[in-house]
Amino acid sequence: MTNDGTLQVTDTRTGRSYEIPIVDGAIRALDLRQIKVADDDFGLLSYDPAFMNTASCRSAITYIDGDKGILRYRGYPIEELARHTTFLDAAYLLLNGELPDKDESQNWSREISHHTYVHENVKKFIDGFHHDAHPMGIIVSTVAALSTFYPEAKAVSDQARRREQVVRLIAKMPTLAAFAYRHAFGLPYAYPDAELSYPGNFLNMMWKMTEPRYQPDPILEHALDVLFMLHADHEQNCSTSSMRIVGSSQVDPYSAAAAAAAALYGPLHGGANEQVLRMLKEIGSVDNVPAYIARVKAGELRLMGFGHRVYKNFDPRAKIIKEIADEVFQVTGRNPLLDIALELERIALDDEYFISHKLYPNVDFYSGIIYQAMGFPEAMFPVLFAIGRMPGWLAHWQEGSADPEQKISRPRQLYVGAGMRHLDGTLD
Ligand code: ACO
Repeated sequence: MTNDGTLQVTDTRTGRSYEIPIVDGAIRALDLRQIKVADDDFGLLSYDPAFMNTASCRSAITYIDGDKGILRYRGYPIEELARHTTFLDAAYLLLNGELPDKDESQNWSREISHHTYVHENVKKFIDGFHHDAHPMGIIVSTVAALSTFYPEAKAVSDQARRREQVVRLIAKMPTLAAFAYRHAFGLPYAYPDAELSYPGNFLNMMWKMTEPRYQPDPILEHALDVLFMLHADHEQNCSTSSMRIVGSSQVDPYSAAAAAAAALYGPLHGGANEQVLRMLKEIGSVDNVPAYIARVKAGELRLMGFGHRVYKNFDPRAKIIKEIADEVFQVTGRNPLLDIALELERIALDDEYFISHKLYPNVDFYSGIIYQAMGFPEAMFPVLFAIGRMPGWLAHWQEGSADPEQKISRPRQLYVGAGMRHLDGTLD
């Protein structure tokens, strides 16, 4: 903790001055409460809709410098992790603070593969969803439902119990995701194969048909692994904050993760990659790009996959994804939507509107094009994001649960409604 000095403020309502400590570049919002106009005054609040300038926790998990386009998990640059480690090792890193050694990595991977099966009853209630149910709706519901299979998960302060649920959630996400997909197409559920890697097993559960054993294409398996890793954490984003906030009520982690998944479902968050694909299809051809950009600049619509609350420079994940796209297209053939995306990016990066608004492609701009080339339907895109993000949600849930400064999350409000009034029409 670095003590950076103090902030001196004078309240012009009373003429009183206050010294507020600055620690780690922040003041404590509660220190404002001493600033009052009268003894019975509640004290000064800070007003911050959408948490644009409020740190809600101290975290040692992920570092982002949005102006410089930097993303690090536990200090390691995402570029190095994406090149030299696996998604599961990165998940271990996020959860435990250090990368696993060779033995730890093997044991961790084995442990995850042994928990990929779900209770047979899960299949039954997935069967109850309508054939065109959005798979993200199925994920939100089935993740929540897992809490009913593991009532011991309520023991959130028991470290051993906590770890069991962490393993289960990471292990079962691909199974739930693949089952949600298979349900939509009326296909029989394909069971996990413990001999395959984490992404390889997911591809198996997605695509296995009559072959006795599914063998994933190594390039696609690797691409999916990197995509999961790039999505694994992004500090206090909307879904992770939801995980922390809901978890702060000490509910079990399945219920908290379901809330996080629900937050991720929205088109401004994890639903964006699905929207990018719809947008590219709507544009239809490279010739139509300038007209579309003109509509964006006129404020009629947003360029999906562009812009980020934190990155005001290139999203480092978007760069890595672009490299992977080339490898994937060598296997799957080039996705024709790529040309439209490249033209959109070229024009936007050269355009005054996008430059002045600091709008760059984000992680979702290219991920959807890769997923589509790999055969995933659009509705599965946010589900793929959710599989990747689960370790991040859990790492933050663990950190939040162990943080002695945290309590149940409960923001304040500025009440702007009616004053006291009575049912007989009189006012106070
Ligand atoms: N296209 C066009 N203009 C945009 C875009 C966009 N994609 N994003 C922001 N702007 C403009 C806004 O109109 C606004 O302009 P103004 O100041 O002239 O009114 C300005 O940039 C700031 O926009 P805000 O909405 O205030 O920025 P905020 O930080 O709240 O939004 C967000 C970030 C939600 C990601 C936004 O950029 C957006 O809607 N992007 C498209 C959706 C998307 O790709 N989401 C994925 C995010 S990444 C992720 O979740 C993994």
